[in-house]
Parts: sequence; C-alpha cells; structure tokens
Amino acid sequence: MNGPQLLLRQLRREAEGIVSFEFVSADGAPLPLFTAGAHIDLQLPEGLLRSYSLVNDPGEHHRYVVTVDRAANSRGGSAWMHSTPRPGDRLASSLPVNNFPLYEEAPLSIFIAGGIGITPFMSMAARLNTLRRAWRVHYAVRSRQRAAYVQELASLDRTGDAVNMHCTGEDMERPDIAAIVREAPAGSHLYCCGPNGMLDAFAGACSGLPPQRIHLERFSASQEAATAGGYEVQLARTGQTLSVEPGRTLLDALLDAGIPVQYSCSQGICGTCCTPVLEGTPDHRDDYLTHEEKAANRAMMVCCSGSLTQRLVLDI
Ligand code: FES
Repeated sequence: MNGPQLLLRQLRREAEGIVSFEFVSADGAPLPLFTAGAHIDLQLPEGLLRSYSLVNDPGEHHRYVVTVDRAANSRGGSAWMHSTPRPGDRLASSLPVNNFPLYEEAPLSIFIAGGIGITPFMSMAARLNTLRRAWRVHYAVRSRQRAAYVQELASLDRTGDAVNMHCTGEDMERPDIAAIVREAPAGSHLYCCGPNGMLDAFAGACSGLPPQRIHLERFSASQEAATAGGYEVQLARTGQTLSVEPGRTLLDALLDAGIPVQYSCSQGICGTCCTPVLEGTPDHRDDYLTHEEKAANRAMMVCCSGSLTQRLVLDI
C-alpha cells in the first residue's frame, strides 16, 4: 500500500447496519491531505482491498473517518469490517484518491443520495461551508432507522432548508429526480451517489445537460462482467500468452497465472485494475472510464471487461 498505517481510534453506530470508523495515523505523523469526495482503499485480510469515502471535513489533518454499510450480499469486506476491527487495531491504507471531485466554483451544488451514498456528500458539504458556497441535499433512505448522519447534516445546514429527507418506506415520496434536475438553477452542479436505479434515473434526467455539470459515483456495477471467454491475452512485457476460458473474467485468468494485478472493487467502479491496452478491442463493461476513453481502447478494467477480438495485447 502506498499510504499510511492507520490506527482505529473508535467505532460508532451511525444507523441500523451502518458503522463509522475513525482512524488516526499509527505513527503520529499528520495524515496525507484529501479533497472533498475522496476515498481511501483499506487493506483487509486475504488480499481484500476495499474503497470507502472519507466523510470527515477535508480541513481535518488528524483523522480519516469512513462509514461501512453491512451489505446483505457482502463479498467479504463489509462483513469483516462489521465483525472484526476493534479500537487499537492497525490497518494499511492507500493514499486518498478522488474519483468524485467537487467542483468548488459552482454557485449551488445539488446532491442526490441513496442510503450509504450520503457518505461522499458529507465531506463536500463541509468543504462548501468552508468556502461559503451553497449546497442542497436530497437524501433517500428506506427508513429513519437506516438514515446515517441526519444530525450531522442538520448541523452543517446553515440555511435551515438545505436538507430534504425522503424515507421511502414510510410513505414519504421518493425524490423526484427529473424535477430536481429540471428545476436546478443555471450554473448549478448536480451529484448523485446511491443504488444503480437511482443513478440510472439521474443519468437519464441529466442527458440534456452539459456533462461537466453532472457527477455520479457508483457503489455497484451497472453491467455484468464479461465472462464469455474464448480469447487470448498476450502480456507484452513478459511475452506470456494466456487463454481466457468461458465463465472466467480476464482478472481471474491473470490471477490464476500468478500475474500480480492490483484490484479492489472487482466491479469496474474504482479504477484500481486499469491496464494499458496495446492491441485488440476490449469489451468495456466498467463504470470508470469515460465514453471517450472506452472508444480510444488504450486502457481497460481487467476485473470486468473482456475482449471483442480474438486477441488482446496488454502492457503488463
Ligand atoms: S478492481 Fe475496481 S475497477 Fe477493477
């Protein structure tokens, strides 16, 4: 890991099934700075890497706070985080990375959050308060018991009308994403983080807006990984050639062959497994690269993307 060793200072129950973890530097040195919307990757046992948004104020240099939802379909990370770490434990971290940056010049920032998707907006709201810029949040949860950071949002809300709660399981209406987008003032920037249905509705509602005003972050893949197999991958640096068999991802094939590939989410979201492509046409299935980057075919996410050609040559 390229980041600091962290010491877990405290855990706190934020809502039903949602726990926050406050980490400080294990050696007492100041932690690397981060920007609003950034995340860190934590190294968990058995090679698991998991990305978590930093929820605290980016002006704080003494701690990182992350929040973990106990996922029903946990692939190991969330279940381990909820059961194992205790105050005083150490975990290795990456440096902060920001794939969901805040545009700080906007006259108004509008956040649409679903469930645990509120987390990146906590640091953004704190930052915008520092900058004295306006923000508004539409926060949808299944129930009040499942709503993390309600008190903190109320404290951050300087105008008294910035926070709009939607408890969808309690007969309150879902946020009307189309109306929020339609009524967004000129120049405002819109952000969405939450389940795929919400993100897809947001992306559809924003299709007519300039892309630089639209920002979204996914927690789970919007497409199935490519597992059709039946193609060959040549590794340019070693000359090794691998066959990707049906039912396997390219990442599976690389790991089976002992190739040390860095990966984290395994879903095409985080960008950790981004690999340069020298020849061939990837079957892009990720949510990380832009349309232009996918069309250029110079890089691919090997965790979920496959090949449209019989042969791919990768720069590894
Ligand atoms: S591991 Fe996250 S995009 Fe591939």
